[in-house]
Amino acid sequence: MSYAAFRSIGAYVPEKILSNEDLSTMVDTSDEWITKRTGIKERHIAAETEFTSDMGVKAAELAIERSGVAKKDIDMVVCATISPDYFCMPSTATIMSTKLGLNNVTAFDISAACTGFVYILSIAKAFIESGMKKNVLIIGAEKLSAITDYTDRGTCILFGDGAGAAMICATDKKEEAIIDVHTGADGEYADLLMTPNGGSGSAHDAKVDDALKQEANSCFMQMKGNETFKVAVRTLTKDVVEILNENKIQSDEIKHFVPHQANYRIIKAVGDALKLKEEQVVLTVAKYGNTSGASIPMAINDIYESGRLQKGELMLLDAFGGGLTWGSALVPFSPNK
Ligand code: UT7
Repeated sequence: MSYAAFRSIGAYVPEKILSNEDLSTMVDTSDEWITKRTGIKERHIAAETEFTSDMGVKAAELAIERSGVAKKDIDMVVCATISPDYFCMPSTATIMSTKLGLNNVTAFDISAACTGFVYILSIAKAFIESGMKKNVLIIGAEKLSAITDYTDRGTCILFGDGAGAAMICATDKKEEAIIDVHTGADGEYADLLMTPNGGSGSAHDAKVDDALKQEANSCFMQMKGNETFKVAVRTLTKDVVEILNENKIQSDEIKHFVPHQANYRIIKAVGDALKLKEEQVVLTVAKYGNTSGASIPMAINDIYESGRLQKGELMLLDAFGGGLTWGSALVPFSPNK
């Protein structure tokens, strides 16, 4: 049987910074409020002509190079995004495959919002373990600034742009294998976090809150922040406890807890519930904000580039997002060298 190894990581962060001070000139907010309630100090914003695929390609080039896998041997590209270059089609994964010079691949996007990276990790693992694919490039890429309403202080303070990518490759060494990936969803909470317009019927759906049906033609994200916050803490904690118990792993065996970077208070609450030490928890929320499907790989890249992530170290990933969706994963870092 083939196992799936997490071989490499790469990320791209756009140049332009949008600080809390900048936002306080745009909406009724302040650096103090944003810092205290979210832990975010700044986020990066893509240039107007910089697409989600452009950012994803830059992250992917790094991940491919660091994996040592030749481009001709990559057989699948999966992208997690809620801000694709084009809604519906073509998929951002197909656009990126061509930009990367990968001409003989299976390529598709998935929509699982902030849980997207954990979902594509599970897809890569399943395809490799079944023997259908050998080298899968997974990319979380978001230009959330394109779907953010910069007049809504409840959301615009949270989101940023960026991309992260990883190579997941077949191995026969069990000690290199991704141990487990959990994914879950519950559409009962769909209205907590959504883009109510722009789809085939949502603007006319009786279940969509009237307050959310503003701006008939926009694809802006809207969120019931406080309710989302409470469900996030509960769900993230429960999922992590389950994956650790099922795999008989103690929380002190986790070298790096890499949660979705939505809000420092959510990360702290989950970390405390699991009795994790400060040095186990990876935090990038202050400098990148919430980059949805890109947030976990961007955070992994941060610890990689700063020399904190070493071969064989165990990561615990944990995510939560619109859908609602959630997921967690136990992943040893398994570079070739
Ligand atoms: O990534 C996917 C999942 N997403 C999340 O996990 C996000 C979850 N939610 C959150 O992170 C938090 O709920 C927010 C950061 C969005 C909001 O923080 P909160 O502590 O839940 O605030 P709140 O919505 O309960 O609002 C408290 C007060 C309200 O004023 P009143 O009614 O008490 O007078 C808001 O109008 O804060 C006000 N407020 C703001 N004030 C200054 C809301 N947004 C802002 C703002 N600046 N940006």
